[in-house]
Amino acid sequence: MAPRRWLLLLFLAAGVLQSLAQPDSRGFISIDCGLAEEASYVDDTTTLAYISDAGFTDAGMNYNISAEYLGFSRRGHNLRSFPDGVRNCYTLRSLVSGLKYLIRAGFLYGNYDGLNRPPASFDLHIGVNFWKTVNMSTWGADQGNTATVEAIIVVPNDLLQVCLVNTGSGTPFISSLDLRPLKRTFYPQATAEQGLVMLARLNAAPVNKTGTIRYPDDPHDRLWYPWFDATIWAEISTTERVYGVGDDLFEVPWKVMQTAIVTRNTSKNIWFGWESLDAEPRDDDPSRPGYVAILHFAELQLLNASNGELRQFYINLNDELAYPTGFTPEHLVSNAIYDTKPSRHSGYNFSINATANSTLPPILNAVEVYYVIPSTNLGTDSQDGNSSDL
Ligand SMILES: *[C@@H]1O[C@H](CO)[C@@H](O)[C@H](O)[C@H]1NC(C)=O
Ligand SMILES: *[C@@H]1O[C@H](CO)[C@@H](O)[C@H](O)[C@H]1NC(C)=O
Ligand SMILES: *[C@@H]1O[C@H](CO)[C@@H](O)[C@H](O)[C@H]1NC(C)=O
Ligand SMILES: *[C@@H]1O[C@H](CO)[C@@H](O)[C@H](O)[C@H]1NC(C)=O
Ligand SMILES: *[C@@H]1O[C@H](CO)[C@@H](O)[C@H](O)[C@H]1NC(C)=O
Ligand SMILES: *[C@@H]1O[C@H](CO)[C@@H](O)[C@H](O)[C@H]1NC(C)=O
Ligand SMILES: *[C@@H]1O[C@H](CO)[C@@H](O)[C@H](O)[C@H]1NC(C)=O
Ligand SMILES: *[C@@H]1O[C@H](CO)[C@@H](O)[C@H](O)[C@H]1NC(C)=O
Ligand SMILES: *[C@@H]1O[C@H](CO)[C@@H](O)[C@H](O)[C@H]1NC(C)=O
Repeated sequence: MAPRRWLLLLFLAAGVLQSLAQPDSRGFISIDCGLAEEASYVDDTTTLAYISDAGFTDAGMNYNISAEYLGFSRRGHNLRSFPDGVRNCYTLRSLVSGLKYLIRAGFLYGNYDGLNRPPASFDLHIGVNFWKTVNMSTWGADQGNTATVEAIIVVPNDLLQVCLVNTGSGTPFISSLDLRPLKRTFYPQATAEQGLVMLARLNAAPVNKTGTIRYPDDPHDRLWYPWFDATIWAEISTTERVYGVGDDLFEVPWKVMQTAIVTRNTSKNIWFGWESLDAEPRDDDPSRPGYVAILHFAELQLLNASNGELRQFYINLNDELAYPTGFTPEHLVSNAIYDTKPSRHSGYNFSINATANSTLPPILNAVEVYYVIPSTNLGTDSQDGNSSDL
């Protein structure tokens, strides 16, 4: 793991309606799948213009969801379903070859077919590379019954295909598809050979406990989900702006960095963890998905060093130091400690504990976890292919 300093650059731009299947002025493509051809609208919360998917795919049929599910975001109100063919694709054009992009697909079944039976699962591919199996039953009412699947990839050509693959467990459908350009330097773990699939992107101790932070607070329109547990952690926050200096690889929005969890007692650990997606018990098995974690820190309190005040902590993964020394976040400066290479374990338990000299409890402002997928052949136009063995 390595620390990085960074500079936060915010840019804001007004939503402009698009008439063509082209990225907008920010390079964003925002598709509301199943929207009538030529239709578009400006989303209230993000101010982004969403357009119909008619210019991106020839296959499938449009449906509206049932009225009882209409409470969720407008993007979920309609969808495109693909009853015919094994593999149906969206083609996103006019991309910048070699640039890193965030790509996100949303799925809200909403009983669109009147059968009250969501598909058990179907697969998503990026080009011919397996992206993820979409299993609607793992996304419950607490996520608005909406499955959200996200990846960060380097796009090798000026076009990219996102494909829905029928695996015999129900009819694939899709509600929304977003493409957002990132900076080339961002997420160095994403390379031409390896993409990142999001497992978690968490905003610790948010002011709004139900609000997800995204565009315009995040100029790159990542989704930062609320994460807190008042029974375990205390919360600290600042109204001052949190900056980064230098060469920033993540540009976490300051609204995310302004809040953090701390332990109630300096002697206690902050910890979080997850199980590997596969069930095999052997560590370092190359067929096991590799994970990378990115921990974001900024000091939010003004400490009096001459009074001996110090916040310093170790970051451990499965009881071993993940970063070689104690770490002290700088006041109102955002910094990240992150895996440069994926690691492969059956389970992951990160713990953050105060060093012996620390007078203040450990802190955590935000965390991201991804697993890696091969991303060769992303740009190929070829039809059916086998998924990778991730
Ligand atoms: C979905 O609803 C919209 C607005 O109510 C309507 O214009 C459209 O024709 C409907 N689409 C389908 C496929 O039923
Ligand atoms: C979908 O998820 C459910 C609940 O986690 C699981 O029981 C089921 O086996 C999964 N289905 C597929 C096809 O993966
Ligand atoms: C918190 O977020 C929810 C969901 O986005 C939103 O409806 C609500 O207005 C927000 N509350 C405040 C105080 O901003
Ligand atoms: C913090 O934890 C230590 C060790 O468990 C305990 O001795 C101490 O009383 C605790 N302090 C507070 C303020 O709870
Ligand atoms: C910091 O601590 C020193 C020593 O206790 C004290 O003299 C000084 O007033 C403190 N400064 C602030 C800003 O609290
Ligand atoms: C912090 O946690 C690590 C790993 O669990 C442990 O080896 C170390 O002794 C702890 N340090 C302190 C100061 O508690
Ligand atoms: C993770 O590690 C922390 C601190 O070492 C421990 O308190 C916690 O129980 C562990 N969690 C799991 C699921 O092993
Ligand atoms: C703790 O503080 C002492 C005295 O300032 C110093 O010698 C020691 O290196 C510090 N330990 C750590 C782990 O920073
Ligand atoms: C997929 O892999 C299987 C087994 O390796 C092979 O039989 C099949 O022909 C492959 N299909 C395609 C489309 O490459």
